[in-house]
Amino acid sequence: MTSATRGCLVILFIISLALLSTVQGQVCTQRDEQALLAFQAQLRCNIVNDPTNNACPFDSWVAGTDCCQWDGVNCDSSSQRRVIGLQLNGSISLGNPTSFQITRVPSSRPFGTPLVQLTRLLNLELTFVDVNAKMPEARGSISTLKTLVIRGGRIYGDLPTAYGGLVNLESFVIENAAFGVPVPARGASGRAGIPRELCKLRKLVTFHLELLNLGGTIPDCIGRWSSLREFVVRNGGGNGDFSGRDPTYSIPNAAGLTGGLPAGLFGLTSLTSIDLNTNRLTGSLSTSIGRLINLESLNLGNNRLSGQLPREVGNLMKLQFLYLNGNHFSQQLSSSLGKRLKALVELDLGSNKFSGPIPEAVLNILTLEVLRLDDNGFTGKLPKGNLPGSRSVSNLRLNVSLNYISGPLDPRLLPPNTQDLYVCCQHRKLARTGIPSSISVLKSLAILDLHDNQLGGTIPTSFDQLPDLDRVDLSYNNLRGEVPPAIEELRERANLKGNPLLSR
Ligand SMILES: *[C@@H]1O[C@H](CO)[C@@H](O)[C@H](O)[C@H]1NC(C)=O
Ligand SMILES: *[C@@H]1O[C@H](CO)[C@@H](O)[C@H](O)[C@H]1NC(C)=O
Repeated sequence: MTSATRGCLVILFIISLALLSTVQGQVCTQRDEQALLAFQAQLRCNIVNDPTNNACPFDSWVAGTDCCQWDGVNCDSSSQRRVIGLQLNGSISLGNPTSFQITRVPSSRPFGTPLVQLTRLLNLELTFVDVNAKMPEARGSISTLKTLVIRGGRIYGDLPTAYGGLVNLESFVIENAAFGVPVPARGASGRAGIPRELCKLRKLVTFHLELLNLGGTIPDCIGRWSSLREFVVRNGGGNGDFSGRDPTYSIPNAAGLTGGLPAGLFGLTSLTSIDLNTNRLTGSLSTSIGRLINLESLNLGNNRLSGQLPREVGNLMKLQFLYLNGNHFSQQLSSSLGKRLKALVELDLGSNKFSGPIPEAVLNILTLEVLRLDDNGFTGKLPKGNLPGSRSVSNLRLNVSLNYISGPLDPRLLPPNTQDLYVCCQHRKLARTGIPSSISVLKSLAILDLHDNQLGGTIPTSFDQLPDLDRVDLSYNNLRGEVPPAIEELRERANLKGNPLLSR
């Protein structure tokens, strides 16, 4: 038999199989099956560190059987039985970095191309499939696709401009590190940023890129994403660490998006969440930010933004999380901020250049659980934070370290639900007067850090009225006299060094 006749026979065989499946109307189409098998050939299923687990999804992927029954595959209910969903989860045990089960077979062929043949695909979700390759190209792309989610896949490189063809896309999610998997060492950056072609994705609801190390600017034409609710492009601050301070969830020296926040962004009034943590964005925050009245979370931490914080931020009355830490914001905080942000749970303005007094209203947001104003140029006393009102059921963690706050410290004026109080190392030192015995009014106090403040006097015995006290740092002051039992009991959780006149 010549190879041509053999080829003909194969084609005939395929056609007859295809006809058979259409006639029966039961099994998936030949074309979809072939696409899935070609995709599977790009991957390898390894059982890692758990010999009892043999749940490799590909075990059921047997050629000639109905691919609609294969693990992770979904078909529509029409008589054609087209594949509409593919969901693969390559994780055996949650949070174990060595648990990748499905890995890519190293090859020069671009990853994912066979999937383009699944012309009815609506949902594609790959979780912990260790792709370790460039972003899958989608030439001749799947225009039906609504959801593209790749989590924990170690993807890198530029965003393909061909993704502009995914005109029905609603969710575009690529998270390189998820569930405790460390950031890829391979931080090869996509220098092209967000290509303008992606502005065609007018149905986008979620645009979420995590630890991808994109460079380039944000095009103004994203203003066409009028259904967008979530806009996330971050290189730090994953896994509950929204501040981006935890190096485990940050790309060191990330390339990062550059330039300013484009005007188009501020027209996207459906937005509930913006997270651009750890980029290199510059310029000031436009007063137009006040138009995004549905925002619940705004994270611009670890950028190079500067100028005054516009009072229009106060319009964002649904805001629960505001992270602006690690920028160059300066000047005074408007008191309208605290007066109008009545839903705020976490406010992080740490490591900026804010100056002037801390507005009383900020300390009196009753829902607040985390307030970080540390490492700035705030002056004056700590404002009164004990105004009447029903405080949040949760306690307040307050950090005003590294400022120019002057004493004396009056615990009776602080929010009564203060749980953690960090007032260390004020540049002009807190006070020489000491720690007042009224510290015991802060009934929830667990952590107290007053180190390096030239505090004098004795340590009050009233610490014994604080049942939750867990850690104190009173080091490098001028404290004298006896260490009270409540502090002694904390042992190594009480740091008292650098107080030569203290007797133990
Ligand atoms: C993936 O599998 C793990 C267990 O192995 C499970 O905990 C996790 O929820 C799964 N993720 C998805 C998206 O299904
Ligand atoms: C408090 O602020 C100081 C100074 O910026 C910082 O070093 C420290 O890690 C912060 N601690 C907490 C728990 O916020």
